[in-house]
Amino acid sequence: MSAGLVQAAYIVAALFFIMSLAGLSKQTSARSGNYYGIAGMAIALIATIFSPDAQGFGWVIVAMAIGGAIGIFYARKVEMTEMPELVAILHSFVGLAAVLVGYNSYIDPPAIANVAMLSASEVHAHHVIHMVEVFLGVFIGAVTFTGSIVAFGKLRGVISSSPLNIPHKHKLNLAAIVVSTLLMIYFVKADGSMFALIVMTLIAFAFGYHLVASIGGADMPVVVSMLNSYSGWAAAAAGFMLANDLLIVTGALVGSSGAILSYIMCKAMNRSFVSVIAGGFGQEVVISSDEEQGEHREASAEEVAEMLKNSKSVIITPGYGMAVAQAQYPVHEITEKLRAQGVEVRFGIHPVAGRLPGHMNVLLAEAKVPYDIVLEMDEINDDFSDTDTVLVIGANDTVNPAALEDPNSPIAGMPVLEVWKAQNVIVFKRSMNTGYAGVQNPLFFKENTFMLFGDAKDSVDAISKAL
Ligand code: TAP
Repeated sequence: MSAGLVQAAYIVAALFFIMSLAGLSKQTSARSGNYYGIAGMAIALIATIFSPDAQGFGWVIVAMAIGGAIGIFYARKVEMTEMPELVAILHSFVGLAAVLVGYNSYIDPPAIANVAMLSASEVHAHHVIHMVEVFLGVFIGAVTFTGSIVAFGKLRGVISSSPLNIPHKHKLNLAAIVVSTLLMIYFVKADGSMFALIVMTLIAFAFGYHLVASIGGADMPVVVSMLNSYSGWAAAAAGFMLANDLLIVTGALVGSSGAILSYIMCKAMNRSFVSVIAGGFGQEVVISSDEEQGEHREASAEEVAEMLKNSKSVIITPGYGMAVAQAQYPVHEITEKLRAQGVEVRFGIHPVAGRLPGHMNVLLAEAKVPYDIVLEMDEINDDFSDTDTVLVIGANDTVNPAALEDPNSPIAGMPVLEVWKAQNVIVFKRSMNTGYAGVQNPLFFKENTFMLFGDAKDSVDAISKAL
């Protein structure tokens, strides 16, 4: 393949990657988004393997066969709930690859193109840029590597999920960055130093470990998406070192989409983006306010079934508890029964309902709930006042009115599903316990709210029977 053809193939692959991201942003087009991604990656691989600079074809094929076989084995085996673990460990590979590419590129720097036509100062500038690329690439890669391994360990349960809280943690993080910056200045000034590179790598390994270890287990989804972003920047850095434009573009796409997803999640949880990057996250123990909230009312499954039959419009807002109870199948069942009786049923999904982005959407899709009745929070929030019955199934923080009404609440300012505006609200949960944020929910004590206690699956099954 000529160099020109390789560049053309890279542009086509980059376009496929962009189309893939666009496709993945909607459930209805997610499947084609995946196909575009596969096509882009296939073109990229073929163009890279057959490019004029490529060597060791046999080795590449052997490595691809082994890697591909392991990848297919795990991808087939992995449960939906284990997806974040898989993603975390894959990020660690990207991080390690960036470290190895960095060392390789330092030991055996690539030739500068058209060097004969450059002046001495231009050659020097190229050299300095390359040194900085190596240093930054290794740093980002090393942080991503150990950070992702810790995230994997926490999600798997092999590392304690409680946040590591060593004294002066922020100062230590700052010191790691300052010392690494000084080492980079030394590295460039001394025209390269293996010693500085190794010391920085060790610091970056420790920094990545500490950054993620100090974050609580339940906040891991945000961390995984942050590491996704870091792995993108690590790949982009490797692209600069290898002078590979496609790797730079792909890395930037991954880096920025990971950062955007993290930002969306932080906003939906009302957390600051900076505190996530700084790793000072999930620390504060929120004390639930047990002050007198008033009386709560209870309803039986049969009463709820009656209420649903007499409703014209119903909105179901699922949360983490639906995932725990695996109640999505009976939820689909009652949806179909009600729709058959002419009741309008829709779903309202909070962006951080559950414990992963898109958690609820995946569960509902798995149970074959039609996509067109599953709406985002912003699409449905204005409709609650015209709704007869809302079923809050295993959700708590995402429907907490205190977020809007109580400026002192730890979740004040978090956008929530305004379910209390409906005529009747039924809350499915097992007790009066708080949700993930650990704060009491005034919704449970509102006049139009009825609690239906018990495991969400059992309760929904009982309603289905009564319908
Ligand atoms: P939560 O606020 O965690 O509430 C879930 C509720 O489900 C609990 O109150 C629990 O009450 C109930 N529950 C648990 N198991 C149940 C079962 N088997 N049957 C019936 N009910 C059950 O959930 P949410 O409303 O989905 O909010 C998500 C929270 O997670 C938010 O605070 C969000 O910030 C946080 N978070 C989300 C993400 C993402 S990306 N989704 C990432 C990190 C953090 P009982 O114990 O009384 O049953």
